[in-house]
Amino acid sequence: MKAVKKLSDTKRISDMTSAEIKDEVRKAYTKVARRTVTGCCDQEDAPTKESTSSYCKSSPIDMKQVVLSFGYSVDGLPASATESYAGCGNPIALASLREGEIVLDLGSGAGLDVFEAAKRVGESGRVIGVDMTPEMLQKAEENAVKLGMTNVEFRKGDIENLPIEDGMIDIIISNCVINLAPDKSRVFREAFRVLRPGGRVMISDIILHGSLPEEVRDEVITYTGCLGGAIPEEEYLQLMHDAGFENVKVVEKAKFDLGSSARISGYKPKE
Ligand SMILES: C[S@@+](CC[C@H](N)C(=O)[O-])C[C@H]1O[C@@H](n2cnc3c(N)ncnc32)[C@H](O)[C@@H]1O
Repeated sequence: MKAVKKLSDTKRISDMTSAEIKDEVRKAYTKVARRTVTGCCDQEDAPTKESTSSYCKSSPIDMKQVVLSFGYSVDGLPASATESYAGCGNPIALASLREGEIVLDLGSGAGLDVFEAAKRVGESGRVIGVDMTPEMLQKAEENAVKLGMTNVEFRKGDIENLPIEDGMIDIIISNCVINLAPDKSRVFREAFRVLRPGGRVMISDIILHGSLPEEVRDEVITYTGCLGGAIPEEEYLQLMHDAGFENVKVVEKAKFDLGSSARISGYKPKE
């Protein structure tokens, strides 16, 4: 018989260091890369019914349908490029990528957004994906080989401390990742550092409408499921502004019960 987890048995986010939180995130996305879990959600481990938000409830999730519903084209993509997708939107759709641009994807997962971006920037452009989960990086690299893409690169690293030189990126994209970072202010300062003057960001992420009940917000499953670490819209935009971005705004929102999946843009001022 499956042991039933009680809230008192489970680890709490508020008792963890930033490194411990990242270890939990890495463990969760190792399962997504191996496909023992689909999307951001590990419903098996959920200690309360509120643990997973409305976008997590249908099981099993057909990731190809999710990807299509976000407006991606799956033509020519191997199943391995869509099956471990764990995004909450499509940052590329409104990013107006141009031939020759250098793109950085924060938390690139199995690589779907990197591959979409690579098609748009062409052979004269380049797309770099950064992720901290080895299984995701391996899967993304295998997918790049299957697709024969030579203008993509995956680097192991933490988005709070990017393995990227100053000022070399034209546009940063990210899909459902910044909510998972314990130090979001550092992520935005790093994003600002690596962008060239006049460069831009187009982020898909979860933002909250209000605050989550404390006991739900503090659950590991809620955090790794992209909800517990999410912050309200005003706070998100303020952190970007404080990092130096201008014209910061939410360009689109799709609401669910506790928050929205939003597309957020901002610019690094021209010198
Ligand atoms: C919800 S998934 C999204 C993956 C991908 N963007 C997609 O849309 O399918 C989150 C990804 O971000 C990575 N990640 C989370 N926190 C990170 C951090 N601090 N540094 C680097 N990668 C991180 C995880 O390893 C995982 O692959």
